[in-house]
Amino acid sequence: ETVCKIVDSNVNSQTNYTQAVDILNAGEVVAFPTETVYGLGAVATNDCAVKKIFEAKGRPSDNPLIVHIGTKEEVKLYIEDITEVAIKCMDIFWPGPLTLVMPVKPNVLAKSVTAGLNTVGIRMPDHPVALALLQQINKPLAAPSANRSGKPSPTEAIHVKDDLQGHIPYILDGGSTGIGLESTVLDVTHEPPVILRPGGITKEMLEEVIGPVIQPTKIEQKMESTPKAPGMKYTHYAPNAPVYLIDCDKGKVAQAIMHFQLEGHKVALLAPESFSTIKADYYFSIGEVGIKEEMGATLYHALRACDKTQATLILATTTSTEGVGAAIMNRLEKAAGGKWYTK
Ligand code: TXA
Ligand code: MG
Repeated sequence: ETVCKIVDSNVNSQTNYTQAVDILNAGEVVAFPTETVYGLGAVATNDCAVKKIFEAKGRPSDNPLIVHIGTKEEVKLYIEDITEVAIKCMDIFWPGPLTLVMPVKPNVLAKSVTAGLNTVGIRMPDHPVALALLQQINKPLAAPSANRSGKPSPTEAIHVKDDLQGHIPYILDGGSTGIGLESTVLDVTHEPPVILRPGGITKEMLEEVIGPVIQPTKIEQKMESTPKAPGMKYTHYAPNAPVYLIDCDKGKVAQAIMHFQLEGHKVALLAPESFSTIKADYYFSIGEVGIKEEMGATLYHALRACDKTQATLILATTTSTEGVGAAIMNRLEKAAGGKWYTK
C-alpha cells in the first residue's frame, strides 16, 4: 500500500513541485488542483502511467481522459487539424474551464488516454499550481477528476485523500478550487459545435465568440444519434444517501422534510443560506439564493459532507438552467438519478 503525502503547494513550494515532477517522470500519478476540481495526473505520453489513473479511480477503461497543457502552443503537437472555431475558443477561454474535443494525431499520446477514439479532449487550466506543475514538467498531463469513479469530484485536497489514500503517492494541496464544477466539454469536430458536458464556460459565453452551439437537452442526450462524452453515462456524482431534488421554495422544503422524517428518515438539507432556519436533521449551505457561482463552488463539498453524517436521505434545492445553472442542474440531476420531490 502506497503512503499518500499531501503537501501544501504554498509551503516550501519548489521542493514540492520538484517531488511532484520526479514522481510523474517515474511513471506514477500525482493529484493537483485546477480552477475547476482536483485532477489526478499522469504523463499523457506514458501508457503505463496513464493506466494507473484508471486503476486508482476504479474508472472504466472506455472513458477517455482530458489532456492538460501548460501553454497554448503545445496544442499543435497533438491535434491534427485545428479549426478557426477552436482557435477562437483557445484565444478567448484559455487558460480556463473549457475542454476542446479535437481530432488527435496518431501515436503522439498514450493509447489509454483516448480510449480508442480518434479525438482527444484538451484544456489549459487556469490555476497557478496546475500551470506551474505543467510548465515545470514540460509534458502534457492526462488528468480526470481525482475522485473514486462515481463520487462527486474533489474540490479540496482532503476530498482526494478521503477517496484515494492508499492508491496514490502524492497530492499537491492548493486549497479549495474556485469554480467547483468540472470544465465545459465542447466537441468542435461537429458543426455547429456540441456541448458534451456543461460547465463554467456557458453556452451563452461560447455563442458570443463562435456563434450557435448545441447544448443537447436531457431527452436528446439519451438519443443514439447525439454525440456524447463517454463519461456522462457513468458518472453519478453521488453521495451515499439517495438525493431528491426540490424547487427552491421554503414552504415546499419544510413540508418535504416533515414527509420524509415521518417515514423515519434523517434528512440532510442542501439549500441556500436563508433556508438554514428550516429544521432538517443536517443542513449544508450552498450560498446565497440565486447566486449560481456560489452554488457551483459549494455543491460538491456539500454533497460530500452528507457522507460524514447519519443522513439517510438528502434533499437538494434546484436552480434555473440559465448560465452556470445548466452545469449545476446537470450534476444535481445525476447525483439524484433523476429523483424529484413533487408532492
Ligand atoms: O474540469 C475538468 O475537466 C477536470 C479537471 C481535472 O481538469 N477533469 C475532468 O475529467 O473532469 P474527467 O475525466 O472526470 O471528465 C472528462 C470528461 C468525461 O465525461 C469524458 O467522457 C469526456 O470528458 N471526454 C474526454 N475525452 C473525450 C473525447 N475524446 N470525446 C468525448 N468526450 C471526451
Ligand atoms: Mg470525473
